[in-house]
Amino acid sequence: MAEKNDRNAWLKGGEAHCKTTPQPQAFPQRLVLLGAPGVGKGTQAELLSARLGACHLSTGDIFRAAKTLTECDRTPAMTNALDYMRRGDLVPDKTVLGLIVERSNCLRCGGGFLLDGFPRTVAQAEALQECLAQNQIQLGAVLSYDLPLEKVVSRLSGRRTCATCKAVYHIETRPPKVKGVCDACGAALYQREDDRPESVRVRMDAYEKSTAPLADFYRRHGLLISISAEGTPEEIFSRTMDALKERQSHRVIAKG
Ligand code: AP5
Repeated sequence: MAEKNDRNAWLKGGEAHCKTTPQPQAFPQRLVLLGAPGVGKGTQAELLSARLGACHLSTGDIFRAAKTLTECDRTPAMTNALDYMRRGDLVPDKTVLGLIVERSNCLRCGGGFLLDGFPRTVAQAEALQECLAQNQIQLGAVLSYDLPLEKVVSRLSGRRTCATCKAVYHIETRPPKVKGVCDACGAALYQREDDRPESVRVRMDAYEKSTAPLADFYRRHGLLISISAEGTPEEIFSRTMDALKERQSHRVIAKG
């Protein structure tokens, strides 16, 4: 099996490079994953990344990686961003967009990308469009995952995340082989601070107010694919691949 990309350039930004560069693809997939907190975007991004070779680029992972730095190694904007995140609030657009600009090389990666957690507001979506246009890159599609709220909350409360490679588990539906230990890299699993009930409520409100309107934004741009997030991760993955193939075949027919 190909070595999993360490996403160092994305997680650290600046001059950081990935240890293993993704294989350039003949037709790189460039996708955005949308959906409520806990719907399963990160889980699908891992499955899609393994199949399509595109890099999983999560803005939440950038913030969680910054948490492990000492106060003096963090910029004041990042320390401020971590306070927003702890409460469950959205980090201000200006901070997020600064991080994306600094990592725009990752958007040009020949393996393609799977953006998870960005964009999250209409202002971020407009800035992404501008950045992609400047780099002559086209977004392939926006995958919007839908699930009733009570199921989303139960997915969040059982989530465990790998401290090192960020792989995601669930204590009931996707348990690791050994309790508390990552199958992929052997590091310890932890429960995210923002999965506490009071932060989850704030995250859901922020999603409804700022992120849900993005579905309409991308529908108007002809990019939205709605996918039910019911069922097992493998079932949702297979639904996603079918939807991508269908979209691809329509595009081929339309091109004639
Ligand atoms: P972020 O890290 O992006 O979190 P999120 O969007 O809230 O999404 P999650 O990671 O919580 O959930 P997910 O949909 O990826 O689900 P997962 O696959 O883990 O952002 C965190 C914070 O950072 C934000 O609140 C904000 O403060 C800040 N931030 C980040 N980006 C920002 C931006 N652009 N602008 C402003 N602020 C930003 O799955 C959840 C659980 O369910 C897991 O345990 C999993 O194993 C389980 N599961 C998955 N699929 C299934 C299934 N089919 N059946 C059963 N269980 C399943």
